[in-house]
Amino acid sequence: MNETTAGADQYVPTDARSLADLRAAAPDCQGCELYRDASQVVFGRGDADARVVMVGEQPGDVEDRKGLPFVGPAGHLLRRAVDDARLPVDQIYLTNAVKHFRFQQRGGRRIHQTPDRVHIVACRPWLVAEFALLRPEVVVVLGATAARALLGPSFRVTQSRGRALPWPDSAQRVQDFPVGPAQVVATIHPSAVLRADDRETAYRGLVADLTVAGELLAG
Ligand code: URA
Ligand code: SF4
Repeated sequence: MNETTAGADQYVPTDARSLADLRAAAPDCQGCELYRDASQVVFGRGDADARVVMVGEQPGDVEDRKGLPFVGPAGHLLRRAVDDARLPVDQIYLTNAVKHFRFQQRGGRRIHQTPDRVHIVACRPWLVAEFALLRPEVVVVLGATAARALLGPSFRVTQSRGRALPWPDSAQRVQDFPVGPAQVVATIHPSAVLRADDRETAYRGLVADLTVAGELLAG
């Protein structure tokens, strides 16, 4: 393994007792090369007692500058969908599969680049550590990158979205994720709604999938 893909393992404190401990250590991570060009690490946010964890892809341009996940256009759309699905917002912890923004500079613009498998794998120890502390009841997987991180490379969001999936059956990497009795609902990424030709239909699909997560919470 070379220096740029060694992974986050050595940067995640093994004695972390809280999300604050993790958040404090994350800015030092050099587990892959993405820390070099990004402005800052973007760690998860939300209540430590949240019953739902939503996992996105990586911070976008706005998140990279503000240091918080889901505070740009996709985040605003997600918040609207959460409200329309009647999910209790105070029960949601938001995070990303990859915690630094990957982009290409083109002139004055920073163009989003999808993280590669090496970045997803390198960054997984942070996600594992968040899950170990949060022990969510419901995990919402937002799009293909989060699905790759949590459910393995063969999971297809389009085929399995909007259904409650028991964690052990859906997670190929369950041994690495000490989440306890969680259920998973996969859906499309809010950015995919923003890019869709038929935004209204795509949005309604997102809300329908999130409603399934809400029903799981309500029991
Ligand atoms: N998209 C994501 O996946 N995460 C963010 O934090 C913002 C946009
Ligand atoms: Fe570390 Fe993840 Fe950032 Fe890579 S993307 S440097 S593994 S926090």
